[in-house]
Amino acid sequence: MFEHLKPQPEDKIMALMQQYRADPRENKIDLGVGVYKDATGNTPVMRAVKEAEKQLWEIETTKAYTGLAGDPAFGRALSGLVLGDTVPDDRLAYAAQPGGTGAIHQALELVKMATPEATIWVSAPTWPNHPSIIRHLKLAIAEYRYFDDETRGVDFAGMMEDLAGVKPGDVVLLHGCCHNPTGANLTLPQWDEVATLIGEKGATPFIDIAYQGFGDGLEADAAGTRLICERLPGALIAASCSKNFGVYRERTGLLMAVTPDAKSRGVTQANLTHLNRQNFSFPPDHGARLVMMILENEALRAEWTAELEEIRTGMLGLRTQLAEALRARSGSDRFGFIAQHRGMFSRLGATPEQVEHIREKHGIYMIGDSRMNIAGLNSKTVDLLADAIIDAGV
Ligand code: LMR
Repeated sequence: MFEHLKPQPEDKIMALMQQYRADPRENKIDLGVGVYKDATGNTPVMRAVKEAEKQLWEIETTKAYTGLAGDPAFGRALSGLVLGDTVPDDRLAYAAQPGGTGAIHQALELVKMATPEATIWVSAPTWPNHPSIIRHLKLAIAEYRYFDDETRGVDFAGMMEDLAGVKPGDVVLLHGCCHNPTGANLTLPQWDEVATLIGEKGATPFIDIAYQGFGDGLEADAAGTRLICERLPGALIAASCSKNFGVYRERTGLLMAVTPDAKSRGVTQANLTHLNRQNFSFPPDHGARLVMMILENEALRAEWTAELEEIRTGMLGLRTQLAEALRARSGSDRFGFIAQHRGMFSRLGATPEQVEHIREKHGIYMIGDSRMNIAGLNSKTVDLLADAIIDAGV
């Protein structure tokens, strides 16, 4: 059988990660994969996570299976963080997943079971794993314009024009906050217009929220998602804890389904549970348990919120510093968008050749589409990046 296997296209983000690791230069800078790094380049275990792990070691008496949809207490806690109290319990189904990717995959499998003819609409550009999973599942895909290459902001008129082509039963994939790869985000009034359009079309919104707390704060970053859930009868939401709890390798995520009524909640929950059983039976528990402990314990939650806020404001500071450094070097405001973008990423708008020049000559690694991970910088390397960007003629 193995002779029938075909080579797979390489994942650009993972490939760049390998390339960076293999680069012997000591002063190399990694702005590639979306992993938070502190000023020393370390991805720390968050303080509250360390403390929760300590407590868990003391109190955990068994590693026996939890539920097929994970521990319901985790689902309650994380859905509370994402949705607040916008969705009544009797309209909310959820199942724990191995990370945000697991949640996205499972959501799309659910779509395939319910409406195999649906087209999944994704932003152009989007996180490359979105189209990859959609195609892997043999679902139809369409793109809507999202990023304006000139302003480096959202091309909202283009987005609405393209979404006018959405058909009943289609699914519109939106980034809850901190758009990956661009860093350009919808305003709340724009979310409202998108909600109206999706409602009019009879489509289902599918929100990928992987960076809550990295943009404008935990509540503000969830505002678009909550608005959609308030305005529309149904929604799918894939939440990741990898970044905001820093539990990347624990694979911690949740798929939520907001259903029109209690009856459809029941059947949706049964389908989510069934899908978990088919794919991996029980979702990983360790990360989910830590997240649940943190969210449910006042002291741990306060510690976690404080550290997340330090991370967020640190990244904002780096954005301002980089925009300033580029203003000083270019004598223009054309890089001001870097301070306006939110989250871990900004799309610089450099050509692939310029990106390569920055990597070859300066040892600074960003994704080929010129996505930069702002968290890969520190106050010293900002100037090196600004020099490299100007040197490459961006
Ligand atoms: C990224 O976009 O870099 C992260 O979400 C990591 C990944 O899995 O691609």
